[in-house]
Formats: sequence, C-alpha cells, structure tokens
Amino acid sequence: MKKKILVATGGGDCPGLNAVIRAIVKRADLEPDYEVYGSIEAYNGVLMDPQEIIRLDDQAVAGIHIRGGTIIGTTNKGGPFNWPVEQPDGSWVGIDRSDEMIQMLKDQGFHAVISIGGDGSQRISKQLFDKGLNVVGVPKTIDNDLSATDMTFGFQTAVQVATEGVDKLVTTAESHNRVIIMEVMGRDAGWIALHAAVAGGSEVCLIPEIPYDINKVVERIEKRYEERRGFAIVVVAEGAKPKGGTVVGQASKEVGYENVRLGGIGYRLKEELTQAGLKASMRVTVLGHLQRGGIPIAFDRVLAAGFGVHAFEMVKQGKFGQMVAYKHNDIIDVPLEEAVKDYNYCTEDAFVMRTARGMGISLGD
Ligand code: F6P
Repeated sequence: MKKKILVATGGGDCPGLNAVIRAIVKRADLEPDYEVYGSIEAYNGVLMDPQEIIRLDDQAVAGIHIRGGTIIGTTNKGGPFNWPVEQPDGSWVGIDRSDEMIQMLKDQGFHAVISIGGDGSQRISKQLFDKGLNVVGVPKTIDNDLSATDMTFGFQTAVQVATEGVDKLVTTAESHNRVIIMEVMGRDAGWIALHAAVAGGSEVCLIPEIPYDINKVVERIEKRYEERRGFAIVVVAEGAKPKGGTVVGQASKEVGYENVRLGGIGYRLKEELTQAGLKASMRVTVLGHLQRGGIPIAFDRVLAAGFGVHAFEMVKQGKFGQMVAYKHNDIIDVPLEEAVKDYNYCTEDAFVMRTARGMGISLGD
C-alpha cells in the first residue's frame, strides 16, 4: 500500500508556497511507494463535510512554482483546536476537533502531514504531534519572524516589492519636495522595513522593536531639509509604535480571526509629525498585501524548493515533530518545540540594523 502524505498551507499566503508544494510532489514522485494529497484551506479540508482533499500529482503541480498564493488555499482563521461553531443566538464558539481530525487521518491511511505555515500553524503542528500525528513543519512568513530559521521564503520577494516602492516614491518626493511615508508589513519584526530602508535609501525607518520618539524623527527630517535636499522617505512597519504608545489596528470581526488587524500607523505618523511641528508637505502610501502576492523571486523559489525536498526526506526518515529550517546557508531540521519558542526580532547585532545605523538612517531613537 502507498504511503499517503497530506500537505496543508496555513496562515497568510506568501510567495513560494506553490514552489514548496511542487518540490514535495516532485521528490515523492521519485519514490514508488509515496502519494501526495493536499488539504484545502489548511486543515479545514479534512474537517469539512464533505471533505476537501485533492490528489497532488505531477500534473497538478506543473509550472506552479512561479505562481504566488497557494493552489490548495489557506486560512488564518479557526483550525482543529478552535473550530468555529455557530450557536443558536448567532454567536460563534471555537471547539476542539483535534482528536477527531487525527482519527480521521489515521482511518484514511495518511502516514504523515507536511504543514507549511507561520508561527501559529507551527504551534498547531506541535500540539498535533504531541497528540500522536506524524507532522513535519515548513516555516513560512513574509515577516521573517521565526527564530529557528535564518530566513523564510517569501521574505525576499516582499523586500523586493517594498524596495521598488521606495524607488518609485523617491522620484515623487524629490520632484515635490515632500516627505513620503511608506507603510510596510511587519507585525512584530521590522525586517521588511529595515531591508527596504537600506536597499531603497530612506532617511527614517521605524520598526516594532524600537518605539520611536517623534521629536527625533522630526530632527532627522529637518536635518535632511537643511542640507538643501528637500525631500525624505520614511519607511514604517505596520507594528511600529511611539514611545509609551500602542500599535494602530483593530480587532477583526471575521469569525475565528484572532490577530488584531494592523494598519494605519503611516497616517498616524503623519499627524504626529505635523503636531510636532514638521512643516514639510507629506503623503502616505500603504503597500499592504502587494507585498504578499505575485511571482516569487528566484531566491525564494530556490529556498522553497529546498524546504519541500527536505521536508519529504524528513517524512521518509520518520523525523516527525521537527521543522525544516535554513541555517548558515544550509537546510537542516529543528524540533518544532524550538521552532515556536521565540520570535526572530531585529536586534542591534543584526548586520542590517548596524548597516542602517551606520548609514545615518534614523530608527526613531
Ligand atoms: O504575518 C504576515 C502578515 O502579512 C503580517 O505582516 C500582517 O499583519 C498579516 O499577515 C495580515 O494578515 P491578513 O492577510 O489576514 O490581513
């Protein structure tokens, strides 16, 4: 009997997800006794009635590595431990269907699951592994905020988009003598903002790790204007906040969506700069989901393919409860427990942080 592997993609989409799926299938095709399936919308495909599980063969994955998104869909709502059930009064309650799901997968002859996702998905993977499911994790996030891996696929594509954003905004800022604030993604970690600031050459970069002092930001922009180069670019991560202040966001009304939906710090910053006395003309651009979509750059496709091949080999070797990781230019595996322990925050010793400071980019402190 063939060994069935189930692949699921969870959390926000990310350029490179399809490249991982294709690599798993291609690697499995080299072995006569494995078959790959995909669960639609993370684990929901298993739990839905009727189930939504599709066969992933060579034909299903042909050419998908250059496509953004994920051919098996994804979600950052609900999940086997928090399955939303509508109550008679119209409210929703999350119930734990994890045991039922594990039993279903066993009954259907699934040998292992490869779960491609961010910190939330990998926490679910760890809990499922503790309950006896054969799980291998593959890290995914454009934010690059998982500490167990030096880099996640999708991050460099997002940086490329953000850098192109700076490049385009510079020409308008320069022509109009303006300050343009560009808001990028980065919930807890400011890697996208920092990389785009260095690559694009911004004057200010505000990140979640360093609460900013608005007067320091004004000072840096005014200095730039005094140098008679009357324009400036400020890159701000969505999770940035002022000293003693809070992030800008709102609780989501979507059922099962637990994260606060961040967004709007760019506009708040513009107000704060005005209140702090900055006279320059200002505009705000929010890049939003442009950073998560579209064709993955070559680096991300290669990393994603490497993750997919390695994940299959971990299944073959029975290395369950582990996650694929990129460390020191190699692909290794780490225990899921380690993988979900810490965030990968921007720290002062990170080369990109030292570079930003070394080039006079104000980090708002
Ligand atoms: O975690 C990746 C991320 O893109 C964050 O940077 C952002 O806060 C979040 O996802 C947005 O998620 P959604 O697509 O649900 O709005």
